[in-house]
Amino acid sequence: MLVAAMSNDHIPAPVEGSSSFAALESLRVKQLEEQTSALRTSVICAFNQLLDLKDLNTGVHSTRLAEWGMRVGQELGLEEAELQNLEVAALLHDIGKVGIPDSILRKPESLDPQEYALMKKHAEYGWAVLRMLPGFERAALDILHHHESFDGKGYPAGLQGAEIPVVSRIVCVIDAFDAMVSSRPYRKGLPYQEAVRRLNDASGTQFDPVVVRSFLSFAESEMSPVFAAAGTSVSSAL
Ligand SMILES: [Fe+2]
Repeated sequence: MLVAAMSNDHIPAPVEGSSSFAALESLRVKQLEEQTSALRTSVICAFNQLLDLKDLNTGVHSTRLAEWGMRVGQELGLEEAELQNLEVAALLHDIGKVGIPDSILRKPESLDPQEYALMKKHAEYGWAVLRMLPGFERAALDILHHHESFDGKGYPAGLQGAEIPVVSRIVCVIDAFDAMVSSRPYRKGLPYQEAVRRLNDASGTQFDPVVVRSFLSFAESEMSPVFAAAGTSVSSAL
């Protein structure tokens, strides 16, 4: 029987301090690290599917946008732990919209002040959910601040400049770019060049100019192959 064959009776227990004990310990640590990493990936995927169920993902672009966010983060010299948070924040920044009524999420017309106030709550909702998950606390904070404005006129805290977490500043730019170029059932996305113009216009007011500069340094060259693969062109499909 397999269990009997694997019984400890036949395997001498490693002695503490011996080389086989150290090897076993390091194997155990490696296994735990792999399990933690797999669990983390599963949580991200599960939440992503939740966004899909609510039709809140921006389709084929979302993963690519996370990659762009990561590229900006690397250019800005973020450390590995921050890059991991950035990936989570880029993919799940709008997870709090799950708590917003569909009548507001899908309203084609402009929101009235009351509806807009409720919509803005999604940043706090996202933070409230993710902060409860061990290992996601920092990404939760980055999500909380992804609608702060560089000039302090954003929400929820009205943070300004470097007070805003750098991950939030990056997500803010790529999220805004995504919103501008993506088509919705009730409106067509802006052409690439117009989205670039608007990013530049709001650089230093809404957006961190360093992040905008970094993103635009590679945006066009990265984008063409993506849309070509989808059978569309940068100017018409966005
Ligand atoms: Fe958002």
